[in-house]
Amino acid sequence: MKVLVTGGAGYIGSHTCLELLGAGYEIIVVDNLCNSREESMKRVQEITGKKLIFHKIDLLDEQGLDNIFKESSIDAVIHFAGLKAVGESVAMPLHYYHNNVTGSLNLCAAMLKYGVTKLVFSSSATVYGDPHTVPITEDFPVSPTNPYGRSKLMVEEICRDLYAADSSWSIALLRYFNPVGAHQSGRIGEDPNDIPNNLFPFISQVAVGRRAELAVFGDDYPTYDGTGVRDYIHVLDLAIGHLKALERLDEHSGTHIYNLGTGRGYSVLEIVKAFEKASGKQVRYQIAPRRPGDIATCYADPAKAGQELNWSAKIELKQMCDDAWRWQSNNPKGYI
Ligand code: NAD
Ligand code: WQD
Repeated sequence: MKVLVTGGAGYIGSHTCLELLGAGYEIIVVDNLCNSREESMKRVQEITGKKLIFHKIDLLDEQGLDNIFKESSIDAVIHFAGLKAVGESVAMPLHYYHNNVTGSLNLCAAMLKYGVTKLVFSSSATVYGDPHTVPITEDFPVSPTNPYGRSKLMVEEICRDLYAADSSWSIALLRYFNPVGAHQSGRIGEDPNDIPNNLFPFISQVAVGRRAELAVFGDDYPTYDGTGVRDYIHVLDLAIGHLKALERLDEHSGTHIYNLGTGRGYSVLEIVKAFEKASGKQVRYQIAPRRPGDIATCYADPAKAGQELNWSAKIELKQMCDDAWRWQSNNPKGYI
């Protein structure tokens, strides 16, 4: 089976490529490298001892995309390509809508033209906004609070309309919680440009000495230690979720939403402690004001993915920290 992976050079994409190659899939990656490096693709091939095909193409380049579909008989698509920084999306909404929504429209149009109707899409728990309670099930109301989240919801809706118009489409909308960690080899991992927005890469960079201290955004949330609680999921568990979704699409048309999370939450301070233990380094921090738009607590009810995909997250917090640290300490400047 030949799978087109958009955004495959990125953090979650590269780990999913690794699992796909391991499971015997043929892969074509398209990525414009706006937030990644081709080195990740080299390392995926080095770890697996298997080849993939890489094309530096932007999803906004309709002709480039068309050529890929024309020259290879693609069976299914996993669509990771997108911009993901919440704050940047507030500052540059048109850029986010254009990249994430128009890029996805171009991809779906090419799929339609070439009769490819199996799609796995990277959505996000961010579509739930501030949930009225936890754990979050897939039928919770959606109300994203920023352009990034709305771009994800728009693509979900486009996917639902595609299926309504043509029932041969099989689409999995995967709502990820907080992906963290890295492959155990320490050769691939998360390599954010500039200052990390997310907790795990920030903590890793403090531990490795690249940043002085972590700002803990708020200690007055209604959580047991006052800091925000999130559902951190190891990127390899997440990657396996994509393979399970792909397998299921073979036999089930429709649009299917799945939460991919562990079902348990950890606070910021618990993560700091776990990371200190894994790295043997002190993670200096200071309590700072709440970050605008943040919510107190967010974790998944992943039961639907358990029942329908036969998937559940297996990897514990300790290994998430061990693996994130191995990647960070072996590659203190990322892929450079
Ligand atoms: P990432 O930035 O590492 O990977 C995204 C990849 O897409 C990058 O390699 C980037 O170069 C590429 N890309 C972006 N726009 C493109 C375009 N127009 N054409 C071609 N390539 C393009 O991010 P990630 O963490 O691996 O996230 C993958 C997907 O999962 C994204 O869609 C993201 O929104 C979604 N997601 C991520 C998280 C998270 O916390 N990491 C959580 C929920 C959902
Ligand atoms: C986690 C916790 C922060 C950084 C974001 C996106 C979401 C999804 C995943 C893409 C929160 C606290 C963080 C720091 C801190 N991405 N924190 N200091 O906000 O749950 O989700 O990434 O879809 O859309 O919104 O993740 O890692 O940024 O924050 O105290 O320097 O860590 O307040 O409680 P978040 P995060």
